[in-house]
Amino acid sequence: MTRRKALATGAGAIAAGVGGHWIMNAGTSYDDAMRSTWTPHTAKADTDLDYLIHYATLVANNHNAQPWLFDRTAGRVTIRADLSRSTPIVDPDNHHLFASLGCAAENLMLAASAVGKGAALAFIADSGGRIDIDLAGNAARDPLFDAILDRQCTRSDYDGQSADNDDLAALAKAAKIDGCELIVFSERNRVEQALEMIVAANTKQVEDRAFATELRSWLCFSAAHAITRRDGLYAACSGNPTMPQWLGNIVFDFVFKAGSENDRHAKQIRSSAGLVVFATGRDDREHWVRAGRSYQRFTLKATSLGIRHAFVNQPVEVVSARSEFSKWLGMNGGRPDLVIRFGYAPAMPKSLRRPIEDAIVQV
Ligand SMILES: Cc1cc2nc3c(=O)[nH]c(=O)nc-3n(C[C@H](O)[C@H](O)[C@H](O)COP(=O)(O)O)c2cc1C
Repeated sequence: MTRRKALATGAGAIAAGVGGHWIMNAGTSYDDAMRSTWTPHTAKADTDLDYLIHYATLVANNHNAQPWLFDRTAGRVTIRADLSRSTPIVDPDNHHLFASLGCAAENLMLAASAVGKGAALAFIADSGGRIDIDLAGNAARDPLFDAILDRQCTRSDYDGQSADNDDLAALAKAAKIDGCELIVFSERNRVEQALEMIVAANTKQVEDRAFATELRSWLCFSAAHAITRRDGLYAACSGNPTMPQWLGNIVFDFVFKAGSENDRHAKQIRSSAGLVVFATGRDDREHWVRAGRSYQRFTLKATSLGIRHAFVNQPVEVVSARSEFSKWLGMNGGRPDLVIRFGYAPAMPKSLRRPIEDAIVQV
């Protein structure tokens, strides 16, 4: 569990409908909805770009807000920000939003490679920034594609096992994107120092009323609510108790407290094999996209190696914490983009996505 999955353990005592995968919504169970999200579409033709767009939506994205719009013309998919799905309190400059678009772009290109298509990405800075992916020529299948359907953010305690050096080298190699640096650390004293900064920044966020209100608006406490929305953060995906949405909204305000949230983070981080920071050091949308691409490649390689991960972004999200964190990383004030913990744990239930038609610009 994380602050994003905010029900503290105490909530279990008043939870109704615990373990809600069986909860039905218009005849659909959460398991059905999960299956329909994560089953690949059938390519209708060689030129079927919707088939590729479906894979693009199966990426990590901030708050599962799915903040993208896809525009397709012959041989090109353009990915734009859907600013109606921004999260202005936790992400006031849309950094995470553009990193999420980078994740989507990466999956789309990997899916293209799996059907033998070449893909060239260009970031166009005009009008707020967009990503053009031109599909032309041939490409060899990138094996990272094979992990797309198994990837997830796993917000649970891990088993404390450390990672093999060969695996760490393979992860660094897979995550290589021009201009993005990977800082990996697993030494206990470094992890503890980072934890201190994570906890300090987390305290600021949890105690910020606006942050809590925004987070709560993305939480789905019941399967029925998750199935209806098909976005946001469903409690069971983080191992949290489920309950009717109206009750969850009340309980959340009582249990979302810095002390319990910090304890949970400390336990989860200490159970992990290490932390990774993705850093481009350049603070513009093009580089935020690059950070997202690098993270996405890292997680797909990790998935293929049986390594789980979850975000601990607090020291890059809280502006007043970011420069101290950057200094501690030796980045001389450059912006660190994303922070994750990694390690070993069983899989959790997976998140849902809206139908791709909702995100495709119809012409
Ligand atoms: C840029 C970015 C920032 C994120 N920040 C956080 C975070 O701070 N805490 C967290 O628990 N998850 C974070 N997430 C993970 C999303 O909540 C997660 O990807 C989304 O809920 C979908 O779930 P899935 O990745 O398991 O499919 C972030 C994801 C992205 C791409």
